[in-house]
Amino acid sequence: MSDSWWRSAAVYQVYVRSFADSDGDGIGDLRGVRNRLPYLRDLGVDALWLTPFYRSPMIDGGYDVADYRDVDPMFGTLADFDAMIADAHALGLRVIVDIVPNHTSDAHPWFVSALAGVDRDRYIFRDRPNDWESIFGGPAWTQVADGQWYLHLFDPSQPDLNWEHPDVRAEFEDVLRFWLDRGVDGFRVDVAHGMIKAAGLPDVGFMPGRQVELLGRGRLPYFDQDEVHEIYRAWRPILDSYPGERIAVAEAWAETPQRLARYVGPDELHQAFNFDFLDATWSADSFRKVIDSSLAEAAIVGAPTTWVLSNHDKPRHVTRYGDGDVGLRRARAATLLMLALPGSAYLYQGEELGLPEVLDLPDEVRQDPAFLRTGLSRDGCRVPLPWDGTAPPYGFGPGGSWLPAPPSWAGLSVAAQTGAPGSTLELYRAALRLRRTTAGDLTWLQTEPDVLAFRRASGLVCAVNLTSSPVHVPAWGPVLLASSPAPLPPLSAVDQGQTAVDGSLFRDRMPLIGEEILDRRGGVVLPADTAMWFDGAATG
Ligand code: NOJ
Repeated sequence: MSDSWWRSAAVYQVYVRSFADSDGDGIGDLRGVRNRLPYLRDLGVDALWLTPFYRSPMIDGGYDVADYRDVDPMFGTLADFDAMIADAHALGLRVIVDIVPNHTSDAHPWFVSALAGVDRDRYIFRDRPNDWESIFGGPAWTQVADGQWYLHLFDPSQPDLNWEHPDVRAEFEDVLRFWLDRGVDGFRVDVAHGMIKAAGLPDVGFMPGRQVELLGRGRLPYFDQDEVHEIYRAWRPILDSYPGERIAVAEAWAETPQRLARYVGPDELHQAFNFDFLDATWSADSFRKVIDSSLAEAAIVGAPTTWVLSNHDKPRHVTRYGDGDVGLRRARAATLLMLALPGSAYLYQGEELGLPEVLDLPDEVRQDPAFLRTGLSRDGCRVPLPWDGTAPPYGFGPGGSWLPAPPSWAGLSVAAQTGAPGSTLELYRAALRLRRTTAGDLTWLQTEPDVLAFRRASGLVCAVNLTSSPVHVPAWGPVLLASSPAPLPPLSAVDQGQTAVDGSLFRDRMPLIGEEILDRRGGVVLPADTAMWFDGAATG
């Protein structure tokens, strides 16, 4: 495992309670993760990011932490964590854990004391609320028995910490050391742009109900304040004092890519999630703009950019791109696009199976606290993974599953897709394997509108057709991989060395790795909503 591993890593996000359940309580756990580590090694990722497994009342899926130094019994024990990370390292997998510094749970001993009037200034209490709104809907303030109000940018069960208080700073520096001592390779920093609030807590001044819409676009007095960078400048020496490269990746939303880039650098964090890529619409123009601006910003700070298409907060990309067959085709193409780009890629569990968002969960099983306040829920991307079998919960564990998997998922399970030619799982495996051989800068290639094509310095060429009709592109080299079945010449035609093949001879099948697939003009047919990788090194 080399240093700077994170610069081009493929990091797999494990949403622990939905990954694998070892004890039959219907909730994923650390032993479940440990048992499935060989699957992740075989998938070909470099690292895992585990969402919070700390002691928590689980109002917000564990992003409401009551004890930052212990494992919640529903997920196991510290010994389970130690065993899991030891196995991961033995398999060559790094492990990143979540840290949640903006807020605690209301069950955290500090907040319990604060309610009793002890050390209340570790949180943000005021005699009167301002006009700030919770990201989960409704006011960001809740009144306590003695009449004061406390700030919670998320659920009322998640009181915001006061980062002006020295105890808070000291506590989190110690929590970092606690997990670094246990061997973690890094941290994903939750709400990394939120810890410092503008002095005096000024009103936002927007109409009620509008602040959330402005998230990430406008300038808000509770996000991306300049002083937040002092916190990361204090954290970086701690990370650097450990052997190997221990990293931190910011979950931060900022007004501009320039402001987002400020979180990253040799004296702050290593990376920031690039949510603009996730937000890009299905068009060449939209992707091209985001890729260009992300690479330009990354170059300024000398850090690699990150790419992400799905996570536990957003509808899965199969569904965002249209759901059904079209959504899956596009999702697979977007994945090949992402995995061909320079920088590191974050994959969300289940995307390698082509899972769609589950849109029809009954209201009574939904658990996202935002659902109660806004009617919008993130549960549909959190449904437990299908591993094998023909009926829910598809081998998730020996009991049921905390959210029901749809009856239609049997064909999407890991077992069903393993070794199946053309399956999404095999596409991810092949792409992650080939990705290891790609390196260097990206150069755009000339194409027709709505087709993106670029070459990496190492030779890989990636072309994506974002239209709904097939297009002809140059043969940049033998095809390495295609995201969807292509109308290809029959093998016999290729065997006979034909370079011009009539379209009528084409039939649907996946191209074979390294195969030349030439159309009548000596180019290649790139089907609708499809990405292809070519071995451009073979042609120079
Ligand atoms: C971002 C996390 O990804 C999300 O799941 C959580 O609800 C909020 N931060 C609050 O911690």
